[in-house]
Amino acid sequence: MITYNAQAQTFTLHTKNTTYQMAVHPTGVVQHIYYGRRLRDCDLRGLVRGADRGFSPNPDEAGRDRAFSLDMTPQEYSTCGVGDFRLPSIAFALPNGSHTADLRYCGHAIRAEKYTLPGLPAFHGEGGTLVVHLEDRAARVGVDLYYGVLEEYDLITRAVRVVNRGSEEIQLCRCASLCLDFLRADMDFITFDGRHLAERSPARAALLPGVRSVGSVRGASSHQHNPFVVLCEQDADEDRGLCYGAMLLYSGNFEAAVERDQYDGSRLVMGIHPYHFCWTLAPGACFDTPEAALVCSSGGLGEMSRQFHRAIRNCLIRDSRANVRKPVLVNNWEATYFDFNKDKLLSIAKEAAALGVELFVLDDGWFGERNDDNSGLGDWRVNTDKLPGGLEALTPELEKLGLSFGIWVEPEMVSEDSELYRAHPDWAFQVPGRKPSRGRNQLVLDFSRQEVRDHVYGQLKEVLSSAPVAYVKWDMNRNLTEVWSAGLPPRRQGEVFHRYVLGVYEILERLRTDYPDILIEGCCGGGGRFDGGMLYYTPQIWCSDNTDAIYRLQIQYGTSFCYPLCSMGAHVSAVPNEQNGRSAPLETRGITAMSGAFGYELDLSKCTPEEKQEIRRQIETYKRRWELLHCGDYYRLTNPFENGPYTAWEQVSQDKREALVSLVAGGAQAAPPFRLLKLKGLDPARDYRVNGGEAYGGDALMYAGYPLPLMQGDYAGLQLYLEAIE
Ligand code: GLA
Repeated sequence: MITYNAQAQTFTLHTKNTTYQMAVHPTGVVQHIYYGRRLRDCDLRGLVRGADRGFSPNPDEAGRDRAFSLDMTPQEYSTCGVGDFRLPSIAFALPNGSHTADLRYCGHAIRAEKYTLPGLPAFHGEGGTLVVHLEDRAARVGVDLYYGVLEEYDLITRAVRVVNRGSEEIQLCRCASLCLDFLRADMDFITFDGRHLAERSPARAALLPGVRSVGSVRGASSHQHNPFVVLCEQDADEDRGLCYGAMLLYSGNFEAAVERDQYDGSRLVMGIHPYHFCWTLAPGACFDTPEAALVCSSGGLGEMSRQFHRAIRNCLIRDSRANVRKPVLVNNWEATYFDFNKDKLLSIAKEAAALGVELFVLDDGWFGERNDDNSGLGDWRVNTDKLPGGLEALTPELEKLGLSFGIWVEPEMVSEDSELYRAHPDWAFQVPGRKPSRGRNQLVLDFSRQEVRDHVYGQLKEVLSSAPVAYVKWDMNRNLTEVWSAGLPPRRQGEVFHRYVLGVYEILERLRTDYPDILIEGCCGGGGRFDGGMLYYTPQIWCSDNTDAIYRLQIQYGTSFCYPLCSMGAHVSAVPNEQNGRSAPLETRGITAMSGAFGYELDLSKCTPEEKQEIRRQIETYKRRWELLHCGDYYRLTNPFENGPYTAWEQVSQDKREALVSLVAGGAQAAPPFRLLKLKGLDPARDYRVNGGEAYGGDALMYAGYPLPLMQGDYAGLQLYLEAIE
């Protein structure tokens, strides 16, 4: 619900459990007043106070009121160069060379529908929009602040549109999607950081004076930091405390910065990274930022995550893709790498089909002269030496086995040893006069250019139209360097990073529109582009190239703070694991993988009869319990980074009639202590039968705990299925 109080000049956004208020100050500055637990309708302007403080300037409109300073007052969208010395949200260079931005309220609109953003991902669904119009009169620049309110999901979205109303070009050098001021700084900042093969480990620290920022200048949201951050009360844990989660729906360079100021206020600013960002706005032109989304939970980090999961499943991932059962897949990458032919693929497929697998995914190496990772990218036509007769000959054989077919592509890339590169060397990013850096011995195509995108898409279309394709894995195996586009003049080179992302989104949208039945899985060397922007186009994303089930417990745990389990590609792979040499039991590998978008990535024809029986059992379990696994409410029961005796998590159905507890023990122990595992989210008044055997009260399971059996061996796994007794 969005309300405007004309007398007080306040705007209030109510969701089911939260309230957000802002007010127009007599100077025209739009102040941020409150965001937190839901309150009755009220005027909270009294929360914000001012005082005459040295070295905090007063704007001209304040007249003799020395207590009002932009440097202290909380704002909806911070400016620069006119008295607020804290983190700016916007900066532009005007024709006269000045770098000041000063924004004042000039109107608003309330709409009954949630806004959309041209060419950019955005949440959808039932909700309203508030647009607060600001303007910089001297610069003749309009800045519209968009607020989307998805009441049922406790989600508030933000986006900004900048319009040049002047008669000369201006340069936009910074334009955040979100600015959120707090009247407090006694909070922790949580970021999700890592590296290739070890993505999204939570890092939590108290706010110190000054700025802490994470981000990416790699052209992708990155393995190293994630465009999702949390600010929370210092004693907040899984079950208690006020937490603010902020996600940016963007897959390129981003920055999330938080500042604790001199008066113990704090400010979070999130948006496109200002590095090499400079957007020319011609007279009349406008710029739209990516969308940011906020959740405020007063029930701890667990509730915050569940709110994001529900909203992402129902209002970001499109076509209900999040709420249908994903086919169980087998992917040939770790089974064969580049060394395959049709017979080898079919022998894996045959075993897979017999075990209950439904989708066969052909990974890297099927196209051009691609026999290792030094060549072939850009030549998207089937290598008929490996696959005689092309996909037209392979897919009917898979169909006979009852398998649908999926294929890997990496459309944004080119190998220098390829026909595409030989024909169009200027289509790859390079700076004139410099040698390009290589990553995995490949270059990045300039997707900011329409002709490049059209050419690549044309090739993809031919492949996808040559056979029934049910799934596409869209990969990106290096970051961007030497970013310079032959398609833009020198003064507009600062647009290329963002235009690249818009180009990727455009092709993904075309793919979705032309092939609505294809399931697209995003990938970037595993989880190097795991963000809300990609999830709008690709309902699932390969979570990490690290397939070790034990390491995955940490990666999937970190990822779960924002993203739902159904979005995390997770496969059972062979042991010893390819990435770290660890051997986890097959049962444990299945338990870890089936909490995500489930599949296998090993040569099933090499499995023993006992292993095959276990795999069959896992697939049956997944097929029976997928709804609980993917659409249930998710509870983190332990933190795998704390090196406790086990890692456990739980999914509970919306009606609380069913729950599934998954547990993976650490290294083997002799004479281990007896342990009780406290469950969460159950109905205390109901009794639950555990694995078809003994029954326990929901209250007893939550407050006293479940007596865990003693477990033998390294990394033993356990699943408990709970069913309420009617
Ligand atoms: C990336 C992906 C892998 C695999 C390889 C193929 O690393 O994350 O899953 O597809 O590329 O080259």
